Amino acid sequence: MKNPLPTLAIAIALALTGASLSAEAQKPLYERLGGLKGITVVVDDFIDRLLVNKTLNQNAAINAGRKSSPAPYLKFQVSQLVCGVTGGPCKYTGLAMKESHAHLNISEKEWGVMAGEFKKSLDKFKVPAAEQKELFEIVGKTKADIVTRP
Ligand code: HEM
Repeated sequence: MKNPLPTLAIAIALALTGASLSAEAQKPLYERLGGLKGITVVVDDFIDRLLVNKTLNQNAAINAGRKSSPAPYLKFQVSQLVCGVTGGPCKYTGLAMKESHAHLNISEKEWGVMAGEFKKSLDKFKVPAAEQKELFEIVGKTKADIVTRP
């Protein structure tokens, strides 16, 4: 009979790789995003992009909102929120999404622009496609509270 050891070794190697891959997939999204260090870096870049976005700047209510909520405050609150909803240790202490956005008159188009800028930040810091999808699905749940016109 042929020596079965090489086949056995390959089978064990595959089982071990498979086991470690599924353990990776089961880690909370928070950890797969790099924890608060990963999240704050992405949110910092994302908010900076929103602040200079021409389409969003045409909305007078959004501009006014930025004066009442300075960028560092937004970066802090959005990071804390993302940390909490992805399985991290943060407790979000800001306003509810409806309360903080109802007066901003945000349209479907503006939501799309925001999502595009978010993707640019995620791509810039090489967040993998699977984690981006998972995060977008979570963020997408806030849309009904944020978008108030077509
Ligand atoms: C088109 C999309 C969005 C725009 C233009 C926008 C813009 C703004 C502005 C201007 C404020 C400050 C409002 C004020 O002080 O009057 C604000 C607050 C906030 N936004 Fe957004 N936002 C958008 C979507 C989102 C999304 C998707 C999230 C998170 C999932 C988010 C999280 C927050 C948080 C945490 C605050 C602070 C709440 C507080 O005051 O405690 N925003 N947003």
